[in-house]
Parts: sequence; structure tokens; C-alpha cells
Amino acid sequence: MNRKHILLVGGTGMLAGLASYLAIEHNVTVIGRNKEKMASVVQRNPETCHPLIVDYCDEELLSNALQRAVQKNGPFDRVIAWVHRGSGKAMQLILNHSETAEVIHILGSRANPEYEKRCLCFNEQQTYRQVQLGEMHELASVRWLTHDEIVKGVHDAIQNQDDYRLIGTRKDDVDVHSRND
Ligand SMILES: NC(=O)c1ccc[n+]([C@@H]2O[C@H](COP(=O)([O-])OP(=O)(O)OC[C@H]3O[C@@H](n4cnc5c(N)ncnc54)[C@H](OP(=O)(O)O)[C@@H]3O)[C@@H](O)[C@H]2O)c1
Repeated sequence: MNRKHILLVGGTGMLAGLASYLAIEHNVTVIGRNKEKMASVVQRNPETCHPLIVDYCDEELLSNALQRAVQKNGPFDRVIAWVHRGSGKAMQLILNHSETAEVIHILGSRANPEYEKRCLCFNEQQTYRQVQLGEMHELASVRWLTHDEIVKGVHDAIQNQDDYRLIGTRKDDVDVHSRND
């Protein structure tokens, strides 16, 4: 088995199921802030799921935490990053500490994928792909994705290596939800 070191940013929320799945075969470093949420994710795979409790908006703390994770478990082979918009340089710092990684950037429904990519600097050894969260149309109603649908969509993106993957359908009414995702 080719055991990888995977960084999962925001892996204690809607991606918690992905953390548990990936930690069956890989070392997974999970970033989040809430200790209880982190403990509930790590306890499912205590040997292979490594907590990194840090606020990714704090540049110095984030850089130090990422350095520690790399020292402990080696360079990141893959990064799956769900970083809220308006989080300063968090995504760029994550890229800077993932020099040889395959990076999957998860975007909220309102993000502009091309703009998000243009804002980032990559090195030649990185691959960068995007997964965007859409919405689900059911009969006459529209709903957000469930956690299971999000986890499955990200998992499919890992398998298929698309440059861009939309989960569900594109959000066409930006005013329906007032979230900052
Ligand atoms: N299009 C869609 O369908 C769509 C799009 C967006 C969201 N949603 C839904 O909305 C729900 C809530 O969304 P959410 O954005 O709160 O996602 P979430 O994945 O449930 O939670 C955010 C994740 O990011 C971490 N996080 C957030 N800010 C952080 C920071 N500054 N530093 C470190 N870690 C941080 C959180 O950890 P801590 O809590 O420990 O900080 C958590 O692991 C989701 O469960 C999802 O179902 C749907």
C-alpha cells in the first residue's frame, strides 16, 4: 500500500467523513479549531489521524503548525483544503508548505474558480485542482448538499483527477443564502 501524508483543512466539519475514510489507508493531518470536534474525528482512527488545532487565519501559527506536521509525518502528498473566503493568506500559506503536493481546493457556491486560482501562486511541482460546492434541485425545491454528497464528490474528484469538478448544480441565485462560503 502506498501510504500518503494528506492534509485536510477544515476536516472536522462537513469533511469529517472524508477524514475517517482517508485515515484507513493514509496518514491524515486534520486542521480545525474546536477541540471537541477534533477529538471526535481523531478517535475514529487514532493511529493515523493527526490533529492540528490552529486558527488558519493566524499566519504565524498556521506556518508553524504546518512545519511541525511535515517534520513529524513527512511532506504532504495531497492537500484537501476547505478554507472560508476572507481568510487572508491561509490558502497561499498552505500551498507554500505543500511544495510537491496534489492540491484540491474546495470552493463554496459563490466563489469564482478562475479568480480563486488567479489569486494563488504555485510552484512547478504542485498540481492544483478545484472542487466547487453547488446545490441540489429536487422537484420544485433547491437545497444545499448533504455532508455525504460533499464527501462523495470530493472523493470522486480525488479518483478522477479533474481540474475542476462541480458537486451538484451551479448556484444561480446568490441571494437565496446569506452565507460567507
Ligand atoms: N453549496 C453547499 O452545499 C454548501 C456550501 C458551504 C457550506 N455548506 C453547508 O454548510 C455547513 C456549514 O458550513 P461550514 O463552512 O461551517 O463548513 P464545515 O465544514 O461544517 O465547518 C468548517 C470547517 O473548517 C474549520 N474552520 C473554519 N474556520 C477555521 C479557521 N479559522 N481555522 C481553522 N479551521 C477552521 C472548522 O473547524 P472548527 O469548527 O474547529 O473551527 C471545520 O472543520 C456545512 O456543514 C455544509 O453542509 C453547504
